[in-house]
Amino acid sequence: MTDRIVVVANRLPLRRTEDGWETSPGGLVSAVVPFLQERGGSWVGWTGVPDDAPAPFVHDGIEQRPVRLSQSEIDDFYLGFSNATIWPLYHDAIRSPEFHRHWWHPYVAVNRRFAEQAADALQPGDLAWIHDYQLQLVPAMLRQMRPDVRIGFFLHIPFPPVEILARLPWRREILEGLMGADVVAFQTRLGRHNFGRAVRRFLGGEGTTRWLRAGERSVRLISAPISIDWEGYASLSASPSVGARVAALRQELGVDRKVVLGVDRLDYTKGIDVRLRAYDTLLRRYRERAEDVLFLQVAVPSREEVGDYSAMRDEVEGLVGRINGAHGELHHVPVHYRYGSLEPEELVAYYRMADVMCVTPLRDGMNLVAKEFVASRPSDNGVLVLSEFAGAAQELRQALLVNPYDVDGVAEVLWRALHLPPAEERSRMRAMRRQVQRHDVFRWARACIEAIQQ
Ligand code: F6P
Repeated sequence: MTDRIVVVANRLPLRRTEDGWETSPGGLVSAVVPFLQERGGSWVGWTGVPDDAPAPFVHDGIEQRPVRLSQSEIDDFYLGFSNATIWPLYHDAIRSPEFHRHWWHPYVAVNRRFAEQAADALQPGDLAWIHDYQLQLVPAMLRQMRPDVRIGFFLHIPFPPVEILARLPWRREILEGLMGADVVAFQTRLGRHNFGRAVRRFLGGEGTTRWLRAGERSVRLISAPISIDWEGYASLSASPSVGARVAALRQELGVDRKVVLGVDRLDYTKGIDVRLRAYDTLLRRYRERAEDVLFLQVAVPSREEVGDYSAMRDEVEGLVGRINGAHGELHHVPVHYRYGSLEPEELVAYYRMADVMCVTPLRDGMNLVAKEFVASRPSDNGVLVLSEFAGAAQELRQALLVNPYDVDGVAEVLWRALHLPPAEERSRMRAMRRQVQRHDVFRWARACIEAIQQ
């Protein structure tokens, strides 16, 4: 008997480079890898490249088990069912989800392939930890193949209310898939409650908001908000090289100008358009002088092949152009826009340099950018403007909370953020820093693993 952990996630913790592999960026990898290294374990996932499935190999003490996806499966399973059906549906259907049987069947087939690879990796006594919306059928499939192991599932994105889930022609299959786990974990209480209601409604299940029974299955529900590596961000931010970069950036952008920062994957859920409109309103109606403030938006390319994503890129870039055209002068640009990703050191320098961080998703499972900003502050200053529809708002209550559906309201709060009395700014930031420091990603991973083991 062992107590190894087998993680099953759409992507491996490694990605291909020209001459080998590198660690994928992201919180999940940095959180989970140390546990797998300590206890032994495997990671089942896709390399990100079509038809790429080398034999299992060990990297950094962890067995990597690549799952092959053909180009047509990338189109139908990943871009289609995962990201054009489930993703918009689970984010309050803010874009119309598409429902196609020719996407559903590949979703089932690919989920089965992940389950088979996991079943093969699991030794007696190991536990399986399955992640996210791309793999919702894996828990039940894996249970059939390996009834002897404990299975946990963590949903990184929101779980929608029943009225929205009801549209999904395969809602029963998805719920039965998830009910194959021993523990189903959500970012927030709301997700857990929505799931409970859905199982009662569509599977005739019964139970409480913490335990559900449906048919043969009895499943524990938990909420476990994911977090970040606090120490990692705090120490990188305190490094001399980041300090020097912050000073240089400040010189470049103007020492006396306040900086409002946005950092997101370019996704229509993130409300990048909302905050740009709010910024435009701020300059027009609140008489905030464009010379005194600048908006810096980093948009990280994502899922560009999906139509709603490229449409959002066009919209965001159109707005940037219009705002700069309306409020810019030769000597200053109101919105600095960067389409691309940043190296960790540069990102943390941006977080440190910003006066106001603007996080305005229309719906978001958690939003780790908000937590990264808080952890990267060199002291208790800086203001976080945060959407009440981000999971992070449940914990970061001292942020200035906004309703992203109310652009004028966001503009008002932006103005308030830029003029917040220093004592209030410090007390809010101090409380948020304490919260994130105490609830870091390692605590999250421990809590999930312990719940699965019980
Ligand atoms: O937020 C959900 C999520 O799947 C993350 O886990 C992931 O880092 C991000 O979206 C990017 O997703 P993709 O794998 O589609 O590039």
